[in-house]
Amino acid sequence: MSEDRVVSPIENNSDKNFDLSLRPKSFSEYIGQENIKTNLQITIKAASKRSEPIDHVLFYGAPGLGKTTLANVVSNEIGANLKVTSGPAIERSGDLATILTNLSDGDILFIDEIHRLNKVVEEILYPAMEDFALDLIMGKGSGARTLRIDLPRFTIIGATTKASLLSAPLRDRFGIIHHLDFYEDEHIHQIIKRSSNILGVEIDEEASLLIAERARKTPRIANRLLKRVRDFSVVEGNGFIDKDICLKSFEVLNIDKYGLDHVDRKILNTIIEKFGGGPVGLNTLSAATGEDMATIEDVYEPYLMQLGFLDRSPRGRVATDSAFGHLGLKKQ
Ligand code: ADE
Repeated sequence: MSEDRVVSPIENNSDKNFDLSLRPKSFSEYIGQENIKTNLQITIKAASKRSEPIDHVLFYGAPGLGKTTLANVVSNEIGANLKVTSGPAIERSGDLATILTNLSDGDILFIDEIHRLNKVVEEILYPAMEDFALDLIMGKGSGARTLRIDLPRFTIIGATTKASLLSAPLRDRFGIIHHLDFYEDEHIHQIIKRSSNILGVEIDEEASLLIAERARKTPRIANRLLKRVRDFSVVEGNGFIDKDICLKSFEVLNIDKYGLDHVDRKILNTIIEKFGGGPVGLNTLSAATGEDMATIEDVYEPYLMQLGFLDRSPRGRVATDSAFGHLGLKKQ
């Protein structure tokens, strides 16, 4: 899979394998997103009774909430082949034609960052999703003809952090659309305990709760934070993770009790101190903080908004009273 997603500041190279080893493979292992799990289980059972592939599925939500993991779980539960690609990796219509003609009946094609498919490629996808057919245009100008090739019955699982950027015709071709929300703290806590078990990390209840509190309600971050704290416990202690080791790690990592890192705080501080609390446009905020616009929008904003520290208004981003309070700043 071509991966060019924005990475979080606590991520490093070895994290990818780490993520893979912890990734749940079945619904019974998957913690959280209860409503989505129930719905998907019904979808899968119904399709299996009809001996049909499941409808096309779209998952949308902030990075790290488990869109790819769920696609893997669905394909495992069905016993289907999963082929993985991404919007930006499919550059030409020929690339998509090759992928589609190499699918077999019942296969699942996972398209990550599906909002980044280009228009020409997207239009090839419409008849493929609707009629399981590929319309190839032969020749040019007035002599051009369309040749229709039948495709196997496959399922597309699309994933995006930005459902709003999906064109209406593409969105309409997904029979099943699920929004992945931030996780409940209790679910993040269970995920940390599960991951610690798999990794053989020794950790007490208090420490796993502390990590859960600072994991931004996001499994990927919970697992990464666990790994950082584990590193710290090996270097600074005896490998056992307790409250003390956690608090010292968070201090070194510069992560506060809400899970905010220095970039979150820089964003809020900039809005408050340079722009009087806002509103300030994303462009201007990006220039003033030196952070990439997409990173602010995709990685930082969703969680700051979830915490109630940031609002989006038609005129730009606004820091809320809670943000002033959290940073210990007074409104002018
Ligand atoms: N690891 C990452 N996401 C998970 C989840 N939702 N359930 C269990 N383990 C996970």
